Parts: sequence; C-alpha cells; structure tokens
Amino acid sequence: MRREHNNLIRKTNGFLDFAKSFGYVFDMTKIALVTGANKGIGLEVARQLAAKSFHVFLAARNRELGNRAAEELAKNGATVSFVELDVSKPESIRPAAGEVAAQTDHLDVLVNNAATLEGEHTSILHVSSDLMQQTLLTNTIGPLLVAQAFHPLLMKSKDGRIINVSSGAGSLSEMGTYAPAYSISKTALNAVTVQLAAQLKNLAVNSVCPGWVRTDMGGPGAPLSVQQGADTIIWLATEAPKNLTGKFLRDRKVIAW
Ligand SMILES: NC(=O)c1ccc[n+]([C@@H]2O[C@H](COP(=O)([O-])OP(=O)(O)OC[C@H]3O[C@@H](n4cnc5c(N)ncnc54)[C@H](OP(=O)(O)O)[C@@H]3O)[C@@H](O)[C@H]2O)c1
Repeated sequence: MRREHNNLIRKTNGFLDFAKSFGYVFDMTKIALVTGANKGIGLEVARQLAAKSFHVFLAARNRELGNRAAEELAKNGATVSFVELDVSKPESIRPAAGEVAAQTDHLDVLVNNAATLEGEHTSILHVSSDLMQQTLLTNTIGPLLVAQAFHPLLMKSKDGRIINVSSGAGSLSEMGTYAPAYSISKTALNAVTVQLAAQLKNLAVNSVCPGWVRTDMGGPGAPLSVQQGADTIIWLATEAPKNLTGKFLRDRKVIAW
C-alpha cells in the first residue's frame, strides 16, 4: 500500500513536495538509525552517514539532547530526524519503531550504539545484581529488542545491515578483570550478533570494537578520535561486502571472539 503510495507521489514533483511536507522519507534514499546518537561515537556515526547522503534517524533517550544534536547536524546540511528511544525500556522501543515506520517504508542500516559503562574497577567478586541487570538491560537486551522492533523495516531494504557496537572488553580471548558487568554484557551482545546473523540470512549483522576512543565513556586519555572510532562502523554500514556477516571486527578486520 505504502509502495503504491510512493510510486504515485514520485510521478510529479508537486506531489513529491507535498509528501515531503509531511515528513515522509522516500525509498530511493538510504535510511539509517543510530541509537545513543546525541554524543560520542553515535553522534559521529550519524554525522558521517548523513554526509554520505543517508537520511539519519538520530535516536537518543533524552529529548532535549537528541533534538539539539539533530539540529546541529541539520545546520550542516544533514537530513536527520530525532527519535526518542531509551534502549533499556521496551515501552520506549515499540513507539520509536512505530514513529520511524510512519516515516519510511524501509531501513537500510541499524547501528546499535547506545551503551552504559559502570563499575569499571569493581571486582567480579563484588559486582552487584543491580549493576549486572542494568548493564545487561542496556547493552545486551536493549540492542536485541531494538533489532526485533526494527527488523520488519530492515527486511524491506535491498541491503539491510545491523551493526552492534561492542568492545574488545567483551572478547573472551582478550578479557581480564576489567569492568565485569560491561565486559560480560558485550560478550553477550556478541552472541546476539551471531544469533541474529544466523537467523536473518539476507541481512549483514556484525559486532564492532571501535577501539579506545576519546568520548565521555573512553575518557580524554584515549588514543583515538571519534572519527577513527566510527571508521569500521561506517565501513560496515556502507562498503563492506554483504556476505561479511556474523563476525566481530576492529579496524575493518575480523577479530577473535
Ligand atoms: N569510547 C570507547 O573507548 C569505547 C570502546 C569500546 C566500545 N565502545 C562502545 O562504543 C559505543 C559508544 O560509546 P561512546 O564512547 O560514544 O560513549 P558515550 O559518549 O558515553 O555515549 C554513550 C551513548 O549511549 C547513550 N545511552 C546510554 N544508555 C542509554 C539508554 N538506556 N538508551 C539510549 N541511549 C543510551 C548515551 O545517552 P546519554 O547521553 O543520555 O547518557 C550516549 O548517547 C558504546 O556501545 C560503547 O560500549 C566505546
């Protein structure tokens, strides 16, 4: 129904302008949604995708911060829409998916970027049930529920991609004692990636470690800029071969789980 509607409005520029005035995004435009995109790596990913002519749904849990970030990008020519989305709350994810589905008939790229890092120096012997639950809710279950909610739109893309922003801290082969709740949540997120990739054969689904990046989470002493941290995410969103799926990457290369 919506496709017929699209075909119809494409017939004349007048209709096109009319539909645009209602905020509808057209199916010739590449569409991306980035969670936790009001700052840090997420904001940079949104900025770079917009610079590559994507229409970007900039998702953030804080309406004011999200709107401000979207306005900043729009000032520099980006086509961007703010979506309120708290990934730790199913009651926020469902309406966000509905809001996006009202504006587009497909989604090409989902970047599950939002995450929390608490208890960096807490020992595994003392990490609380609360911290484990909150961290898993935001960093693991949130991205899974977001993927579930947006997968009908992703399935309508000719080139659908899901990028889960993970961390080397979640790599079983690199893991030590650092940030147990966060590290375990990212290991589990990697498992979500493998399960989704196996299930969704016509999408590419991958995990990325952005490296240690100068953001509020990474701190000022981190060696990488947000531009460098975004590089593999952007590559997976736009250029990586479609048959590269179910993997964990850093610096555009597959790394060990
Ligand atoms: N920076 C690094 O060195 C590094 C290294 C490895 C992996 N990563 C990963 O890279 C990603 C981005 O991190 P970053 O360094 O850019 O961190 P950041 O600057 O702290 O940004 C984190 C983003 O996630 C959002 N967020 C947190 N909880 C959320 C929730 N429940 N719902 C929606 N959004 C939520 C934050 O929103 P608020 O502003 O509202 O808090 C913020 O927009 C994360 O997945 C992180 O684990 C980062």
